[in-house]
Amino acid sequence: MTADGEQHPTTNEAGAGLVVEHITHRFPLPGAGLFGRHPGFRTVLDDLSLTVPPGSLTAIVGPSGCGKSTLLKVLAGLLIPASGRAEVNGTPLIGRPGGVAYHPQQDALLPWLTTLDNATLGAEIAGQSRAEARTRARALLDRFGLAGTERAWPDELSGGMRQRVSLLRSSLMPQPALLLDEPFGALDALTRRQLQFWLLDITAAERRPTLLVTHDIEEALLLADRVIVLSPVPAGIVHIEDRPDAELRREQREHGADHPAAQRILAALGPGSGT
Ligand SMILES: Nc1ncnc2c1ncn2[C@@H]1O[C@H](COP(=O)(O)OP(=O)(O)OP(=O)(O)O)[C@@H](O)[C@H]1O
Ligand SMILES: [Mg+2]
Repeated sequence: MTADGEQHPTTNEAGAGLVVEHITHRFPLPGAGLFGRHPGFRTVLDDLSLTVPPGSLTAIVGPSGCGKSTLLKVLAGLLIPASGRAEVNGTPLIGRPGGVAYHPQQDALLPWLTTLDNATLGAEIAGQSRAEARTRARALLDRFGLAGTERAWPDELSGGMRQRVSLLRSSLMPQPALLLDEPFGALDALTRRQLQFWLLDITAAERRPTLLVTHDIEEALLLADRVIVLSPVPAGIVHIEDRPDAELRREQREHGADHPAAQRILAALGPGSGT
């Protein structure tokens, strides 16, 4: 729904893609007590619904602390919401970890694994053979700016490199939807640009519905078929910006950003939103 209350149509065919319906999530208030002696809850997600068709990318922007990472954790099966349902291509996601390829906001590299082994871990856990996962990872090392780091330990990598290993891991996971929580946040401008174009390419090629959390409005305008703006906590949808096709978005990027769309998103975020 837009800020003016208009309903947007669901764009995908029945059952296909990522479908999220009426998700509400609450966290216990600080000091609520282990056994609920002083129960109290704070609503963080407020009746959120969205649909991401196959081959399409939806970007989520919103003020810091509004609930973006919480939404992705719910969809990744790591948090159980108070209510709502979510599925990808008809398969339920709530309370079922491993249903989607998920890139958390903080990289989750294992310190005792090398770059290559960290990169292939998610694919292996999902049942892919190590040899196949390694072949796919090696083919992408260069594009991810990780050539020569195959045998490095996470401690030996910069923050940006760690983030790229983590992104490589998520992208190699074979699950039918991809959830990315600020995957480019710690990257330099050139690498960020290269990986943004890589993401555009794989979204089109792999046809996976993709959800991208970002604070970068230009990034959202380039990468997303649809940008969803969330309100401050409890997060609800305050604006939906539907975007032209990827080719036109690339052209707009070449000639400067799409200013009217950026203005609409900024207006929906409100003054001092912190995004
Ligand atoms: N495990 C938790 N227990 C209690 N409250 C939590 C927990 N995790 C997050 N929160 C609260 O829920 C709200 C939303 O957090 P979340 O991490 O989803 O925000 P976000 O939109 O991803 O923010 P940012 O843009 O800074 O990453 C915040 O107020 C946060 O303090
Ligand atoms: Mg977050």
